Amino acid sequence: MCGIVGYVGNGSARETIIDGLKKLEYRGYDSSGIAFCTDGKIEIRKCVGRIHNLEELLSKETLDSHVGIGHTRWATHGAPSDVNAHPHANGDSSIAIVHNGIIENYVEIKEWLAQDYGVNFLSETDSEVIAHLIGVYYNGNLEDAVYKAVDKMRGAYALCVISKNEPDKIVAVRKDAPLIAGIGHGCNFIASDIPALLKYVREIYLIENNETVVITADEIKIYNAQRERVHRDVFHVTWDADAAEKDGYSHFMLKEIHEQPKGLYETLHRRLDENGEIVLDGISMTKADIENFNKVYIVACGTAYHAGLVGKSAIEKMAHIPVEVEVASEFRYRDPFVDDKTLFIAISQSGETLDTLAALREAKSKGARVLSVVNVVGSSVARESDDVFYTWAGPEIAVASTKAYTTQLMCMYMIALYMGRTKGTVEESYYRAFLTELSEIPEKLKAVLENESEIEALAKELYKKEQVFFIGRGPDAGVSYEGSLKLKEISYINSFAIAAGELKHGTIALIEKDTVVVALATQDKLFEKMLSNIQEVKARGAYVIGLAKEGNKEIEKQADKVIYIPDCIDEITPLLSVVPLQILAYYIAKERGCDIDKPKNLAKSVTVE
Ligand code: M6R
Repeated sequence: MCGIVGYVGNGSARETIIDGLKKLEYRGYDSSGIAFCTDGKIEIRKCVGRIHNLEELLSKETLDSHVGIGHTRWATHGAPSDVNAHPHANGDSSIAIVHNGIIENYVEIKEWLAQDYGVNFLSETDSEVIAHLIGVYYNGNLEDAVYKAVDKMRGAYALCVISKNEPDKIVAVRKDAPLIAGIGHGCNFIASDIPALLKYVREIYLIENNETVVITADEIKIYNAQRERVHRDVFHVTWDADAAEKDGYSHFMLKEIHEQPKGLYETLHRRLDENGEIVLDGISMTKADIENFNKVYIVACGTAYHAGLVGKSAIEKMAHIPVEVEVASEFRYRDPFVDDKTLFIAISQSGETLDTLAALREAKSKGARVLSVVNVVGSSVARESDDVFYTWAGPEIAVASTKAYTTQLMCMYMIALYMGRTKGTVEESYYRAFLTELSEIPEKLKAVLENESEIEALAKELYKKEQVFFIGRGPDAGVSYEGSLKLKEISYINSFAIAAGELKHGTIALIEKDTVVVALATQDKLFEKMLSNIQEVKARGAYVIGLAKEGNKEIEKQADKVIYIPDCIDEITPLLSVVPLQILAYYIAKERGCDIDKPKNLAKSVTVE
């Protein structure tokens, strides 16, 4: 949700910032801008639209500097427009800021600044008040002014500030929004996320909440909220730069779909020892802890929440503990019953989703033990959890989550299996057989991906439809939600998913001639029930695409088209069945000419409420 890049050094701030912003465009992409300290003044260029619009604007002049800050926006307060785009400046343009987050008391601050200082505001944003506030407090020391401003602000922020009076530095501060500082040679960087800096640095500092960073070309100084200098260990980034490139694929989403066999292999094998035992290196949860839990909450948002639905069945079945799955934005305000016998599992690709982070803090404050399933190493959710089970998906750039989901599922199966084995509720033979099934998944997934052209052809048939339903039972219901979310978020087709048995309690009223229904029927023990549900929608004229395991040919008699996945045990079909749905959504969106990696109104990382 908004991306920030700052540069101080001997090179071109313009080139570095534009390059970094392009890598952060997944965080927001409705407008962008850049501010430079140059020739004793601050120059700001900004415009609505993607980064290439900003590049085009800048191409008309040679403007550059050795110090600058840039921003790509996901609008919260004020529509996407040139004037609402960041950076924002104070009245005499001596201060410029870029901001990610929301200032909750901005109206109050705005009124105060207008009344007491006669400040005129140009934009409708909450962020503009920060520039004026720092301007009002500025008295020759930018850090002092930023500290005073931050004291007055409520909300979430990652903030970068430059001043024309101190043109060799950037001051940055964070609270509940991510920020990293990159350590260069003769130059230093600040950014919202690692991909922005991968081309330039591998050594970074992870900035903690309420810390302030002062960046010059030679030094990065980090201070805590009490203004004491703090030491921070250098974090070495292991991703290679190619991981954040498209690598010949037309979109990141397609590349990431194809990276799933590797991601699943890595996620599984990094936690298996030579005897095939699951090892939880670095995880401090003991046998006594596991035996102590009488309840598990799985809390997440969007796709990660869908992974939680599958995780619930696995944990209940294997560890015999009741599990509740809840969206984080509901959990955090519900005053749920949580105590020291609760295991709270947060699932998040980015590890920066604000609702998930807030729910985690709420659970922790009530005594729960927090285990998180996270992709981004060192992210806020990871840092605030008692233990972290990392997914090994590699960087996920496309807004539509694919490989993060399947690797999250892999983690959930492993956690369930480990807990069951530790509690003695899973027998040795089941444990071994289940792990064997999991280890066969990467190869089976490659077979699913070989059917891509068949699904592409189906997409060509369906792309003009305006409504698509997804139905399934058991684990298939969870995958239906995910398939439907994938389709609607990138193709803008109205889509709805429902547990197949629920259809007849209302939703079936919407089924009419040629309504497309994707029916997931991968569960052996529920197969016949699904055939009945397919008949029910067929009887109302639906066009049915069935999804079943190879060998279950019976479905061909009912469905208009069938997609098959390789055979595997019922519990783990989601690892395979979601992939044709991802591919279908991808090609439908492509046929409709949609901007697949950056769907409208969305952003990859939702760091606001
Ligand atoms: O980074 P997170 O996993 O916490 O993100 C949660 C959701 O915002 C995310 O899964 C979202 O639903 C995806 N873009 C859907 O594809």
